[in-house]
Amino acid sequence: MSDLLTIADLGREGLEAILALSESTGLGRPLEGKGVALVFQKPSARTRNSMEMAVVQLGGHPVYIQKEEVGLGTRESAEDVARTLACYHALIAARVMDHQDLVRMAGAVDTPVLNMLSDLAHPLQALADLLTVKQLAGSLADARIAYIGDANNVCRSLAEACSLLGVEMRIAAPEGYELGEDLPHIRQTRDPAEAASGANFVYTDVWVSMGQDEESEARMRAFRPYQVNEALMALCPGAHFLHCLPARRGEEVTHEVMEHSTSAVWRQAENRMHTARGAMAWMLGAGR
Ligand code: CP
Ligand code: NVA
Repeated sequence: MSDLLTIADLGREGLEAILALSESTGLGRPLEGKGVALVFQKPSARTRNSMEMAVVQLGGHPVYIQKEEVGLGTRESAEDVARTLACYHALIAARVMDHQDLVRMAGAVDTPVLNMLSDLAHPLQALADLLTVKQLAGSLADARIAYIGDANNVCRSLAEACSLLGVEMRIAAPEGYELGEDLPHIRQTRDPAEAASGANFVYTDVWVSMGQDEESEARMRAFRPYQVNEALMALCPGAHFLHCLPARRGEEVTHEVMEHSTSAVWRQAENRMHTARGAMAWMLGAGR
């Protein structure tokens, strides 16, 4: 049984195993008669729904827990919350403000802990992104992904996954919003056009992530030249558009690009459920 807090927890083998499990129809019901705690400190549409349905498909019972209920770090320490939930559940999943809370929870219990998004990483999103790219490109070896905008939690997890699998990824981010580390196979630039040229996938995410509202004005200014619009997409004809969602149309992406026939954002959203199922099955011991 394993935690999944960042893509690094998986390694190449784990990553490939989860992608295969996500498309398997033979996972059975490893969660039969068991619970999965879903703790949310931030809002969610895709993650909550895809996780709840994936738990049900694996035979288990999801328990949705809002931040006021457990008061992670306020009503009770992260460790005590984890120990309590481990009394009832086979797996603990949490969406947190501070990634360290996940680390503390994982350190306090043997029950596997799953990151449903932190300030640092969004590994479940990266798994769905890679499955989507694999399905559309035919093979990950043929993918050339351009990520335009904030090198945030979503970008970091995707970059780590691409780096592990040797998938070509170029990131265009303004000064002060870069990835902050060099990874094999990942190129970084300030120029969106340079990143997009020759790409067959163009990815972006919001300029202001959850919990960053106070920085909103400065971020809007810094990211304005990084909008994914028809002019940028014209540099890579036929490329698929990707976005983890929710999108802010008119900011990081235009309505036209979101609605274009090459947009794959709804396939990504659906794949969140398949990869959540694959990830939980792997955490419980499948695929190794
Ligand atoms: N992509 C994603 O994680 O969406 P939610 O915030 O709606 O869960
Ligand atoms: N970067 C965004 C992703 C939302 C799914 C955030 O953290 O708010």
